Parts: sequence; structure tokens; C-alpha cells
Amino acid sequence: MPAHLHRGKFITFEGLDGCGKSTQAEKLAAVLREQGFQVLVTREPGGTATGEKIRHLLLDTSTAGLSPFAELALMFASRAQHIEEVIQPALAQGQVVLCDRFTDSTEAYQGGGRKLGSEPVLALHRILCGDLKPELTILMDSDVAASVERARRRNRRRDPTGRGENENRFEQESRAFFGRVRNTYLAIAAREPGRVVLVDARGSADETHAQIVKVVRRKLKLAAKTA
Ligand code: TYD
Repeated sequence: MPAHLHRGKFITFEGLDGCGKSTQAEKLAAVLREQGFQVLVTREPGGTATGEKIRHLLLDTSTAGLSPFAELALMFASRAQHIEEVIQPALAQGQVVLCDRFTDSTEAYQGGGRKLGSEPVLALHRILCGDLKPELTILMDSDVAASVERARRRNRRRDPTGRGENENRFEQESRAFFGRVRNTYLAIAAREPGRVVLVDARGSADETHAQIVKVVRRKLKLAAKTA
């Protein structure tokens, strides 16, 4: 472990469906590993065996009539398990943890999209997650229409029936829903400018990657080895 890294670093990726978060998390992981860091890439909902079961329930389009509060509680159930089983142990070992979505997703989707408001989300985060805060959150900003279309195309490609059966339950939501999600994300970035960095995700994956590497170098001084 590099000498300046006493504890691990927790970095989260946020943004609308289809904005390319998981691709960017993998690309950043490759750069950091080349520099000798131990990197764990994980995601929410999911990231543990129990969490993946909860994820299936949450994303399955046949899960009908789930109440917004039940949805909120399941997101946090997955997260509490993930923190205890995966995130905290990795950080304690000094690893860099790159997580595709975290509590900002809940604030944006359940708080904003489902209109539950930020308060219950922040309160549950304090109670259930020990208020664990990422050192850095990369918010990938993209157009609502373009992101949702991209997510749908991706899911159709994975769907052998071609009938959209692989679409996740959230991707069936309206433009208005995703507009509220994006506005909530932007409000979080304005509220916590020291943690959340907005990255323009409208360009190519390589352009976005270059921006992200720059941000990570600047914010976390992780490039000490090659500097
Ligand atoms: P996923 O396919 O992982 O997202 P993406 O399209 O970004 O690759 O699906 C996760 C979905 O779950 C996504 O639509 C956002 C939603 N979600 C919430 O609504 N609240 C949350 O707290 C989290 C973690 C995800």
C-alpha cells in the first residue's frame, strides 16, 4: 500500500441510468491498479449475495405495486449489508473502493423521483449506514432523454426476446421522473461541493474518462507514484 494512503478511499459514481457509470468505474479501476492500488469495484443495489437478491426484487419489472417506502427500505437493506460485508472491510484494509451508486441515488430516485423528499433518506443513512460518506462522488451529468434511450438500447441488446423484458423497473418511468432525479442530483452537488464533482458525460467514453482521472488525481492526490 502506498505510504500516504493510511485508510482506503471510498469513491462513488452517480448519474442517470445509461450515463455510462459502470464503464467509467472499470476504466478508473484499471488506471489505479496500474499505479499499484488495490481496487474493489462494486455496485448498488447489490454487491453481496443478499444484496443481489434484493436487487433482483427491486429491478424486476414483474415486481408490481411496490410502495415507495418499501422501495426505500429495500435500497437501504441492500446498502447496510453491503457496507458491513464488503465496503468497510475493504476500506479497513486500505483498498480503494469504487461503488456504482450509493446513498445519493436513493436521495435522487426515491427522494426526488418518488417524491419522498431528502429528509427520510438522510435520516436512514445516519441510522443504518453510520453516516458513511464517500471521499469523492463523481456525478456524471447527462441529458435525460439520451440517457434513458441508451439504457433501453443496452437492455434490448441483452434481451434475446427483443420485447424489452430486460428493461429495469426504473427505466419504465417517465421523463418527468428522470427530470426530478437529475434536479435532485444537481441540488446534492450544490449542497456538498467539497465531495461531489460534476463531470460532463455527454462526450465519448474516453473524453469522460480523461475528466474523471483528472478529478481523482486532483482531489485524492492518488497519482503520487507517477507524479
Ligand atoms: P442499474 O441497471 O444498476 O443502473 P444503471 O442503469 O445506472 O446501470 O439499475 C439500478 C437502478 O436502481 C437504477 O434505475 C437506479 C435505481 N436505484 C434507486 O432507485 N435507488 C437507489 O438507491 C439505487 C442504488 C439505485
